[in-house]
Amino acid sequence: MEHSETLTREDTVLVACRIEDLPPGESVRVDAAEGTEAVAVFNADGELYAIDDTCTHQDASLADGWLEGCTVECPLHAACFDLRTGMPSGPPAKRPVRTHRVTVEDGVVRVHVAAPVGAL
Ligand code: FES
Repeated sequence: MEHSETLTREDTVLVACRIEDLPPGESVRVDAAEGTEAVAVFNADGELYAIDDTCTHQDASLADGWLEGCTVECPLHAACFDLRTGMPSGPPAKRPVRTHRVTVEDGVVRVHVAAPVGAL
């Protein structure tokens, strides 16, 4: 029997909140579990997205930023990040934030936090 294997570490799953506590236009910060960074979860017009909470420029919480469409603007120096890709649209942030998979089951929003870069 052929066996294929992918080089991925199992995601860490964080419980974020109940879906009714994250209406469109809102965000929530989820504290880190062991081996993970804090993440921010956004409801962008009914679509849920999760990214690392800490801005890649300095130490600001993106969950406290301004959400517009699929973009969040950092509350400290206004760098904007695309929630779908994590890419900054311009300075002062130069590096992307990581994106994470979000699932909803029985009304509970969960974030599947990807392994840190270099953890494989
Ligand atoms: S801390 Fe986010 S843009 Fe400076």
